[in-house]
Amino acid sequence: MTGGQNLLEKDARRIADMFDAIAPRYDALNHLLSAGFDRRWRVQAITALELSGQETLVDLCTGTGDLALAAVQSQRAHARRVIGIDFASAMLKLAAQKVERHDATALVQLMRGDASCIPLCDGSADAVTIGFGIRNVADTRAVCDEIRRVLRPGGRLAILEFNMPSTPIIKGLYGWYFERFLPWVGRLISRHPEAYAYLPASVHAFLPPARLSALLVELGFTEVRMVSLTCGVVYLHLATRP
Ligand SMILES: C[S@@+](CC[C@H](N)C(=O)[O-])C[C@H]1O[C@@H](n2cnc3c(N)ncnc32)[C@H](O)[C@@H]1O
Repeated sequence: MTGGQNLLEKDARRIADMFDAIAPRYDALNHLLSAGFDRRWRVQAITALELSGQETLVDLCTGTGDLALAAVQSQRAHARRVIGIDFASAMLKLAAQKVERHDATALVQLMRGDASCIPLCDGSADAVTIGFGIRNVADTRAVCDEIRRVLRPGGRLAILEFNMPSTPIIKGLYGWYFERFLPWVGRLISRHPEAYAYLPASVHAFLPPARLSALLVELGFTEVRMVSLTCGVVYLHLATRP
């Protein structure tokens, strides 16, 4: 598949197939291409939720489970249990192996499911996280609405997502890295023809941080806040379900 329009096709089957295809190299590329910062961003998201240790936390688009594991293993504050949900079976398989390796099977449950139709009851989650997943869904509003449905009143949401920084020097350097170097290395290592070209293209096409915040406010979330991480290459969005 080539061309900007097709590259950004958010059909569920296509996105799941793409992540399934890159699953074996996903973690290594994540750590390499973010110079290890991805671990720090996940810990920052979990820390910002100010968990008490009693929560049921739902990690949407859980992928290989790094954010789900961070939510039960964080030194500072952690959830009582995590339900990780993703529609890509190869990503989930790696998540399951990782959870077992970390001796966390009693704490992390993994489910195959779509974030736009979360297979959980209304108000069943104390917290929801979604790390680098929201940009991949076909309908951002529908997913945020689903998150609102599964959160209990007072429940907290944390979204991590990439952003193109706007500060001139950082924009220039990071633009070269993210749009040229990263797709080249990603393609070389993953051997997938488009997944690492899709990454910058999908970040460009996604809502800028202020618009995502505005959408959360529009959907009735309160205490909506966005935090710029690592010179604005990632944003952490926080919100509360009233
Ligand atoms: C970039 S990975 C992020 C994985 C993980 N959260 C992390 O921090 O590394 C995006 C994940 O979102 C999943 N995904 C994308 N759209 C989804 C949807 N609508 N429902 C469930 N999973 C979805 C993909 O299968 C993929 O595993």
